[in-house]
Amino acid sequence: MKEMIAKCRSEVEGIYNKFDASHDLDHIDRVMKNAEKILITEPDADELVVKLAVLLHDVEDTKYEKMHEATTEELLARIGATQSITDQVLSAIESVSFSGGNAKELTSINGAIVRDADRLDAIGAVGIARAFAFGGARGRKLYDQQEEARMDMSESEYRKKETATVTHFYEKLLLLKELMVTKEGTRLAEERHEFMVVFLNQLKKEID
Ligand code: ADP
Ligand code: NI
Repeated sequence: MKEMIAKCRSEVEGIYNKFDASHDLDHIDRVMKNAEKILITEPDADELVVKLAVLLHDVEDTKYEKMHEATTEELLARIGATQSITDQVLSAIESVSFSGGNAKELTSINGAIVRDADRLDAIGAVGIARAFAFGGARGRKLYDQQEEARMDMSESEYRKKETATVTHFYEKLLLLKELMVTKEGTRLAEERHEFMVVFLNQLKKEID
């Protein structure tokens, strides 16, 4: 199993290194650490499926122009994954994306772990850093006090509008704590969430 995971990581390295700092290989490595913590508390999960899904979960991210040829499925074939592993990994990845609150329903504990692990990296100090890195890469404003956070939107509305980064906290990041599924993920989200609230209060104080 270790060998297949290492092989997979080296396959995706070049892909993520072309993404901006919000979705680079360090993001993948942090999500892996989060997933490992959650895995310890979820004996019914399949460790190999979870770890491969973590490594591959952003390969076909539609926010990024595809700069590489391989699909997730091709990468799984390249590392010698069986059909059953491939199906389970693809299904776990499908439910990862938030998509403006339009996430697909979870079909397994494996998918829940990958999604919680990814969402933990979207909040807290590292979540703040990533949001501004993403906003910077897209030329977004830091904040816009005139802008209203959208609470109900379709996936394409969510993707289309170029909101300021602070608005993104209200449209997504502050909502994630309540959307965690695993017990350990929920526990880990608590402190990170509180830190974002402290950050936003301080920011408001400095701007006003
Ligand atoms: P998903 O792929 O799960 O639907 P998002 O598209 O919301 O997730 O983005 C993943 C990460 O990228 C966010 O957690 C955040 O760090 C960054 N990001 C996405 N959209 C924005 C935005 N409008 N402003 C700032 N950061 C963003
Ligand atoms: Ni991710």
